[in-house]
Amino acid sequence: MVPLSPAIRSLIDSRKPGHSLPGGLYTRDDVFAADMEIFFRRNWIAIGLECDVPEPGDAHVVELGKSSLILLRDDDNTVRVVHNVCRHRGARLLDKGTHIISKLVCPYHQWTYELSGELMHAPHMGAGFDRSCHSLRPVAHVNVGGLIYACLSDDPPQDVARLVETMTPRLAPYDIANAKIAHQCDIVERGNWKLTIENNRECYHCLGNHPELCLSFIDLDFGYDPATLAPEDRARADAHEARFASVTAQWEEAGYPSAAVLPQADGDTNFRTQRLMMNGAGESQSPDTRAACKRLLGTIGSTGLGDVHLWGHNTWNHFMGDHAVIATVIPLGPDETLVRTKWLVHKDAVEGVDYDVDHLTSVWTATTMQDAGLVERSHAGVGDPAYLPGPYSTFAETELESFATWYLNQLRKHGG
Ligand code: FES
Ligand SMILES: [Fe+2]
Repeated sequence: MVPLSPAIRSLIDSRKPGHSLPGGLYTRDDVFAADMEIFFRRNWIAIGLECDVPEPGDAHVVELGKSSLILLRDDDNTVRVVHNVCRHRGARLLDKGTHIISKLVCPYHQWTYELSGELMHAPHMGAGFDRSCHSLRPVAHVNVGGLIYACLSDDPPQDVARLVETMTPRLAPYDIANAKIAHQCDIVERGNWKLTIENNRECYHCLGNHPELCLSFIDLDFGYDPATLAPEDRARADAHEARFASVTAQWEEAGYPSAAVLPQADGDTNFRTQRLMMNGAGESQSPDTRAACKRLLGTIGSTGLGDVHLWGHNTWNHFMGDHAVIATVIPLGPDETLVRTKWLVHKDAVEGVDYDVDHLTSVWTATTMQDAGLVERSHAGVGDPAYLPGPYSTFAETELESFATWYLNQLRKHGG
C-alpha cells in the first residue's frame, strides 16, 4: 500500500464526477510521490522502442524518478531491460543517453557484466565469492510489436496481456521493431504529467490551437454535440460517420484490425486504440497531408490505411503508412514533465532521398510546442487558489472522464 494522507484522501473524495480534478491532485508534492509509486512503478509504462537499440551492444538509458533503466540488445539479439545499478556498491553503470558497449563495465571498481546481465568479472573478491549471485537486476518488460513497456513492480499487472494481444496484430504490418528513428525531440513541459495526458486525450482544443495538425485530423472523430450543429454541418457529420463505418469495415476485411478498443476503468493497464481516417489527401500527418516518406513502413503497401492511434497513461502514438510518431511521458516533478517524441521511418529509408527531416517532423514539432504552452497555462491555473474543477464536455472530453475515473480507482486501490 502507498500511504495516502487524510489531505489526499479528502481530495480524492471531493472530486465531482464529470469534472476536472481538484487542484491539489495536480500540484501537491505528496500526490506526486504517490503518483510515481502507483502509476510509474506499479503499472506498465512505455519506456522506449526496440529500434532504440537496433544492434547487439546498443544500450539506451531511461531515467525514471530515482530509478535508471538500461534498455539494451545483447549478443544474442535479445532486447533486455536491467537496472542501472552495480551489484557491488550500487554505482550507476552507464550515464544518460545512448551507448555502444561490448560489456557493461562499472566505472567504479570495474565489475564487468555480460550484456545478459551476468557478472563475469569482479577483481579481488576472493575464492569463495559467488559471481552468479550478483547479476544485474532485470526489469519486467514486454515487447508490444516493437514498443517496450516496463514495470518496476515485483508483481506487475497481468492485464498487460490485453495490450499485447490487441496491439501485436495491429502493429505487425508496420514492423516497428525494425524501423529507424529519423528524429527525436525532448521537451520539458512546465506542468503536471496528468495535465499533459489530459491535454492529449481530447481534441476539443485542436481547432483553436493546432492549425498544422487540423489539416489531417478530422475534428468529428473527437466528439461533437449534434444538437448545436447547423443543418449542413450535421449532414457533413452524418456523411463522415457513414463513410468512416464503411472504411473501417473495409480495413478490417483486408486484415487490418481497426475498431476501437477502449480502456477498462477497473483494469490496471490503461490503453485505447483505434484506426482513424485522415483529412485532405488522407495519407499522413504532414504539412500537405501526403506521405512524408517515400518508403512505407514494414509491409504496408498503401498510404490508405489511416492512422492507428494508441494511447496509454504515459504515451501516445500514431502509426501511419509512411511514418510513426511515438511520444513517451516521464514526470520529473509535480510541475515538470518530460515529453520525448520520436519519428520513425522504414529502416532503409534514406534521409534527403526518401524523406526530409523538417518536412517529416514539422506538424508534430509545432503541435508538441503548442501543447507544452497549453499544459503550462493549465498548470498555472489549477495552482491558483481561485481554481474550481470545471465540467468536462460530455461530447468532446469523454476520454478525460475515463482517464480521471481510472486514475482515482488506481489511487484508491493502491492507497493505504
Ligand atoms: S560500485 Fe560498481 S564495481 Fe564497485
Ligand atoms: Fe494538443
